Amino acid sequence: NRASGSGSNAEAIMNWAKNSQQAEVVCVISDKKKARVLERATFNNIPALNVTKKKEESREDFDKKIIKLLIDYNPDLIILAGYMKILTEHFVKRFEKRIINIHPSLLPDFPGMDGYGEAFRAQVKTSGCTVHYVDSGVDTGEIIAQQSFDLIPGESFEDFKARGLNLENHFYPIVIEKLIRDFY
Ligand code: GRF
Repeated sequence: NRASGSGSNAEAIMNWAKNSQQAEVVCVISDKKKARVLERATFNNIPALNVTKKKEESREDFDKKIIKLLIDYNPDLIILAGYMKILTEHFVKRFEKRIINIHPSLLPDFPGMDGYGEAFRAQVKTSGCTVHYVDSGVDTGEIIAQQSFDLIPGESFEDFKARGLNLENHFYPIVIEKLIRDFY
């Protein structure tokens, strides 16, 4: 599990795993030293690991440091949650079909950094989130599951985004549970 945003999805996953017979979060990795999710992991007695990219370091070398940790902890699934870097080809190949991500739009609409923003500005009738396998493109991996929600006419962007994130927090653990049940 890797997370460096506000950490709400990672936190939801940790909370779900606590009560699950099938799942365990074996470690949480963030590239942001002060990520709240690292504190939450420590609070839950989960190894909280920070891997920082040095300025002079290549993306490959940085990813290799993470790969090393992942080999040590040996998770069945690598769950991205608010991780803002594109994974190198080498990384993706090493863990093929074992890396998943949640994206704040109904892919293939609005890939990239600002899914909710773009959907809101376009005033789409229906928005949503997508759980997908990760490849080395930007939000291009095979889609696993999607959940939609309707824009409420007149609502603010903040409300719209908060509803989306809240939906993600419920949806992501459900999709992970189903994946685990089907494959492990
Ligand atoms: C979510 O909207 C997720 O879909 C996107 O980044 C955001 C992360 O939020 N990839 P959080 O850090 O899990 O709160």
